[in-house]
Amino acid sequence: MRVIILGATSAIAVCTARLYAKEGASLLLVGRDENRLSQMAADLKVRGAERVEIAVHDLAAETDVGAHLSGFITQLGGVDHVLIAYGILGDQHAAERDLVAAAEILKVNFNSAAAWSLATASVLERQGRGSLVVIGSVAGDRGRRANFIYGAAKAGLETLVEGIAHRFADKGPRAVLIKPGPTITPMTEGMNRKGLLWATPEKIAAITHARAYRGGSIAYAPGFWRYIMLIIRTLPGVIFNRMDI
Ligand SMILES: NC(=O)c1ccc[n+]([C@@H]2O[C@H](COP(=O)([O-])OP(=O)(O)OC[C@H]3O[C@@H](n4cnc5c(N)ncnc54)[C@H](OP(=O)(O)O)[C@@H]3O)[C@@H](O)[C@H]2O)c1
Repeated sequence: MRVIILGATSAIAVCTARLYAKEGASLLLVGRDENRLSQMAADLKVRGAERVEIAVHDLAAETDVGAHLSGFITQLGGVDHVLIAYGILGDQHAAERDLVAAAEILKVNFNSAAAWSLATASVLERQGRGSLVVIGSVAGDRGRRANFIYGAAKAGLETLVEGIAHRFADKGPRAVLIKPGPTITPMTEGMNRKGLLWATPEKIAAITHARAYRGGSIAYAPGFWRYIMLIIRTLPGVIFNRMDI
């Protein structure tokens, strides 16, 4: 198993990489922080990974994504799974007034992730097998005042990955969008993270890792979020607009 992780230093990606390491996979970790990538590589080798490569790259940079992806695949010696795990929450309040900040949230979470997804889809289609796994969010299910710019990017990403899964339906590869609910990671630091609805990154990683093998185009993580979001989506506007969620 050869796995490329884009945004490897994300807490959810770190936990997912450990599951791959345990089964002896070879990994290529891509991220911006060379020190953290090197430390992570050493840790994954101790945990059983056959080989761990690193690549330092700003994944939202306007570069030739196809060429970079080919380089990553050559570095690893092939690819079976690609996990796209990076993202930023951004400052919703500031971004409502500062369009440069809004564009950054959209670029990181949608434009760039869409480009990596499309480039990966072409590679997997050519080789006739493999999995594209992308981390979306329940925030994409309904626009809320707290995070609708981030949510809009994740909603767009969902449609894109769902479309890739449809494109793959009668072919060998798989595409899966994982939709976590609130998760205890650096992204949510400073929030009130008490309560039963908060998940650990280990929990989300277990679902991500399982779905990479099993497929199914959309996976809520944990699964109960499917039902919560069904209720949220179907609430009439007159009720929804009075709620502070
Ligand atoms: N935590 C939650 O509640 C939650 C809920 C739903 C979905 N998600 C999604 O889950 C995924 C993983 O997030 P997380 O919760 O694990 O948060 P995290 O630990 O804060 O990870 C975010 C990662 O994204 C990386 N990143 C951001 N911009 C990048 C760029 N331009 N190039 C390369 N790497 C970049 C960061 O790297 P640096 O260290 O270099 O900044 C960091 O490693 C994200 O897509 C997030 O939107 C999270």
